[in-house]
Amino acid sequence: MLSPTAATIRLTLHVLAATIWVGGQFTLAGLLPVLRAHEGAAKQAARAFNRIAWPAFGVLVLTGMWNLADVNVADAPTSYQVTVFVKILVAIIAGAAAAAHTAARTKVTLAVGGALGAVASVAAVFLGVLLHTGS
Ligand code: HEM
Repeated sequence: MLSPTAATIRLTLHVLAATIWVGGQFTLAGLLPVLRAHEGAAKQAARAFNRIAWPAFGVLVLTGMWNLADVNVADAPTSYQVTVFVKILVAIIAGAAAAAHTAARTKVTLAVGGALGAVASVAAVFLGVLLHTGS
């Protein structure tokens, strides 16, 4: 049996938080048609999801910074540094779009914020795995 390292803990926390943040968005979207059949249920479910989603996003940012410290980006090839930069940009867009969606006052902000937040979150997953597997 392999022995876990600090990197095992760091990436497990990062990926676990990503499963809640990204997976939760898609699960909630999938449940919406059923929730909409019950007055107010969709809003209550969204609020309940927010209570676990934003702490998960917080863990993503904290473990993301731990990732950066551990992988020593300063000495990495330019291609890796550029990918990290794009990944952080995409993560910021994911958080900002989701925040706009959560605070939306119009249907347009709700829809655009929600869609952009989901797309940027999936892109952050792809870029994260690329950082781990790419060369
Ligand atoms: C929406 C937010 C985010 C999502 C969904 C996300 C997701 C992921 C995933 C799935 C991985 C791959 C892990 C693996 O291959 O084992 C990863 C790796 C990584 N993430 Fe994130 N992440 C997010 C935010 C951040 C932030 C804000 C930072 C930096 C501040 C960051 C820095 C990194 C780094 C450096 C790696 C590579 C770690 C390594 O190779 O050891 N991530 N991320």
